[in-house]
Amino acid sequence: MDTALPSKLLAVQHHQIDQGVAGIVDGSGTPAALAAALAAALQLLRQHLYVEEAALFPPLAKTGLAMPVFVMQREHGQMWPLITGLEAACAAGTGRDALRADADKLLMLLKMHNPKEEQIVYAAADRYEPAHPDAPLVAAMAAAHMPDGWVCANAPH
Ligand SMILES: [Fe+2]
Ligand SMILES: [Fe+2]
Repeated sequence: MDTALPSKLLAVQHHQIDQGVAGIVDGSGTPAALAAALAAALQLLRQHLYVEEAALFPPLAKTGLAMPVFVMQREHGQMWPLITGLEAACAAGTGRDALRADADKLLMLLKMHNPKEEQIVYAAADRYEPAHPDAPLVAAMAAAHMPDGWVCANAPH
């Protein structure tokens, strides 16, 4: 199994993000630890969305995946208000009960989004990689550093 494949790197992040968000919904632990895990998961999710939208989606959209990429970006946009709202709530020290409803909504969106993305987009990325040795996705993903203030393409205004 090749851990350097795009699908491996990104699916591991899906799992890490899910765990951090799920902790608030149904996990055990101190409220402070669960909130810290949620905040870390949200930061990772922001970076994950950036890497996908900046490094992964553009080349794949040009190779026949324009529609799946469009759907993925639209779903990122649906997640965005929940991400920013939960980040603000974490920073304000909001209690677990008040975080739970939005964390649950975000988890539901992730559970619909991630399997489709893994089966369609990441599978295509794994096929793209050996076919384009001159434009490796993994290297582009590693070089993609989210700028301060980045907002996903379809975030609501
Ligand atoms: Fe995504
Ligand atoms: Fe993803």
